[in-house]
Amino acid sequence: MSEPAPLHVPGWWQDAVIYQVYPRSFADGDGDGVGDLSGLLTRLPYIASLGVDGIWMTPFQPSPQVDQGYDVSDYCGVDPLFGTMAQFDALLDAAHARGLRIFLDVVPNHCSSEHPLFKAAVAAGPGSPERAMFHFVDGVDGDTPPNNWQSVFGGRAWSRVDPGSDADQQWYLHLFAPEQPDWNWRNPAVGDYFEGVLRFWFEKGVDGLRIDVAHALFKAEGLTDSAGTGTVVDGLRSNPQVSDQEEVHEVYRRWRRVAASYSPERVLVGEVNLAPHRAARYTRHDEMHQAFAFSFVKLGWDAAAWAAVGTELEEARREHGAPLTWALENHDIVRSATRFGGGEQGALRARAGLLAILGLPGGAYIYQGQELNLPEVDVPLEARVDPMWTRGGVSRDGARVPLPWTSASENAFGFSPPGSASPWLPVAAGWGSRSVEAHQAGEDSTLQLLRAALELRKQLTEQEILSPDDGGTWRVEDRSLLVCERGDRFLVAVAMGDVPARLPEGDVVLSSSPLTAEGLLPPDAAAWVLTQDS
Ligand code: NOJ
Repeated sequence: MSEPAPLHVPGWWQDAVIYQVYPRSFADGDGDGVGDLSGLLTRLPYIASLGVDGIWMTPFQPSPQVDQGYDVSDYCGVDPLFGTMAQFDALLDAAHARGLRIFLDVVPNHCSSEHPLFKAAVAAGPGSPERAMFHFVDGVDGDTPPNNWQSVFGGRAWSRVDPGSDADQQWYLHLFAPEQPDWNWRNPAVGDYFEGVLRFWFEKGVDGLRIDVAHALFKAEGLTDSAGTGTVVDGLRSNPQVSDQEEVHEVYRRWRRVAASYSPERVLVGEVNLAPHRAARYTRHDEMHQAFAFSFVKLGWDAAAWAAVGTELEEARREHGAPLTWALENHDIVRSATRFGGGEQGALRARAGLLAILGLPGGAYIYQGQELNLPEVDVPLEARVDPMWTRGGVSRDGARVPLPWTSASENAFGFSPPGSASPWLPVAAGWGSRSVEAHQAGEDSTLQLLRAALELRKQLTEQEILSPDDGGTWRVEDRSLLVCERGDRFLVAVAMGDVPARLPEGDVVLSSSPLTAEGLLPPDAAAWVLTQDS
């Protein structure tokens, strides 16, 4: 028998619920049609009222906005589009005063082609130490790149520095858009640079960092062709040359030491888009604290598939000793109400899915608008701005539409102040009935369900019925009732079939739809059940 994995030092983050804010679509304070820090500050009481433990903010650092901020040109600043550093400091203080932690995004795989170090590298020319910060390589010839790798956003992953030049025949690597050159993590200077970035935000009091494309920083030595086409669809998994290289773990061991040198310890959560047993290796006790359970996000409405992946995640948790971290939505994924079938049924399922993940053992992340059960928007073709759309024909804009705050449609449903510019993405017609205002007025709204769930989750934790250290045991009953038993007194059940389901013995303490007159769980609903008198 192998030794059990050393456990993480327990911490608040283990069972925290974090609300993801996509700043440009959350609330527009200055009326330019783009959400910003002042808008977020004004709406902090709303986020606090949900009962979450903190906020993860996607990038607001200076950026040409080619990939909506994931092309960073200054890791330690605030883009004027979003506000000022003084506003960020005020936001951090205001959040802390309300007991909300703040997590920021760090984007270590690539920067913007406008980053001063990339511009210096282009200027310095082949063979220079400046170019060694990135992957500048001679092509096979002036027209043929160094290898067959493809960009996640479509097209090849290499661009010529200066296509017209005979003197400079080099190409640079970009796993995403050409405006997002990849750092060369085999150069120790890159690691030192990022340690400075981490310390800058940690010194300010930022509580944690979400690490973008965390599994892709190291590329296989030699940058050789990938087998097949070199395609990097599905989170880079299908190009092993750019994904999950062993050397990347040393980065996170170093970052963990940095995070642990602050008090309280800062938290690292990774976008590690890998199968459960590989992703779990990033959350060993001396690496990141959390990594999103991405394999769950890819599932349809299928009890057997949820149980199988849940079991796999649980096995990985036991093997590596890290708590699990659930999410059903983020700014890159089609909204769950649409993914689960759309229409009224999709909405019921999304609501059930939300209640389910909040009952599972571990932490959870919810994406702005998930509490409003927003569906994906079919953004008109001419309004789409996602580089993945322009280069690869897949648009993520539909999950990024500005949040509707008011039932009245004026000012983009209250997203912007009166007299503002049009929102950066058009708001969806008829969203007044889905607005925060409408949900606050509705007793059975998803917003109210979320509040009730988080309140109950706290109570059950205080009563030690739920524990941050719980594991989960998954099964399917009667072919379509998904059950996850958590600890020995609580379970989550989701009716994923066509007919009402009989629940296991116990008291239903919360459900996403009312039980039938016979006490059964209707299709497309979830329930939390106390299985012993407690
Ligand atoms: C993942 C981010 O969530 C996504 O929005 C971005 O386009 C890519 N990483 C590249 O940074």
